[in-house]
Amino acid sequence: MELVVFGGNGFIGRRVCRRAVEDGHEVRSIARSGPPASELRGPWADAVTWHAANVFAPNEYRDALEGADAVVHSIGIAEESPTEGVTFERVNGDSAIITALESERAGVDRFVFVSSASTPPMVREAYLTAKRRAETAIADLDMATTVLRPGAVYGPDQPHFPSVLNRLLAVLGSVDPVAERLGAGRPLDVETVGSAVYETAVRLDSWESPLDAQRIAARAS
Ligand SMILES: NC(=O)c1ccc[n+]([C@@H]2O[C@H](COP(=O)([O-])OP(=O)(O)OC[C@H]3O[C@@H](n4cnc5c(N)ncnc54)[C@H](OP(=O)(O)O)[C@@H]3O)[C@@H](O)[C@H]2O)c1
Repeated sequence: MELVVFGGNGFIGRRVCRRAVEDGHEVRSIARSGPPASELRGPWADAVTWHAANVFAPNEYRDALEGADAVVHSIGIAEESPTEGVTFERVNGDSAIITALESERAGVDRFVFVSSASTPPMVREAYLTAKRRAETAIADLDMATTVLRPGAVYGPDQPHFPSVLNRLLAVLGSVDPVAERLGAGRPLDVETVGSAVYETAVRLDSWESPLDAQRIAARAS
């Protein structure tokens, strides 16, 4: 299978790419900076084709979508830079809609959108409003579309919050009775999320959407 991962060099996207390579799929990533930094790469990274392109310039990556069976959108921000046009509306919302439309146009069978369960603390509500707008906009396209809604995701090299919070989330997420009581807001290990996204992209028999944190955990196991 040919898989394209938008944001394949990111925290979650790297795990999706690695899983797909391990299972022998052909993998292409699209992100502005191309491959991940060398300290975040394993041998698997040599098997990925890393396209350096901006999601808002489809002409830069249209060729990479040709022949793809499945596309994953794992682009997002938790912090805005409005003076540079980096807003939740654009990056968390519009970029998913653009990539879904481009994927449909390329004849892709399956599109997986990594959305979110909630807005992170101290962050504008527009973070989630943009995600939900994109979820609705891509729902009726001519391809199977699945939305995953993880809550906070923890793990090595977690780029968004302090390491003390990363460790606390790891404790909460790894004790099953505690994690299960937290329901859709349960923190998830990045390996779990990466596996669930990958499984969703390659399993053409699954039509369940959206997947909340409990279902993401089940899908990965
Ligand atoms: N981590 C969490 O706790 C968490 C929780 C819930 C949901 N999510 C969602 O999961 C998704 C992935 O998050 P993450 O934690 O993996 O974030 P991340 O590590 O910051 O990765 C974001 C990815 O987006 C790419 N990107 C950003 N702007 C781009 C642009 N204009 N054009 C092309 N690529 C662009 C980045 O690569 P370049 O910088 O090289 O372009 C990077 O690959 C996001 O949608 C996020 O909202 C994350």
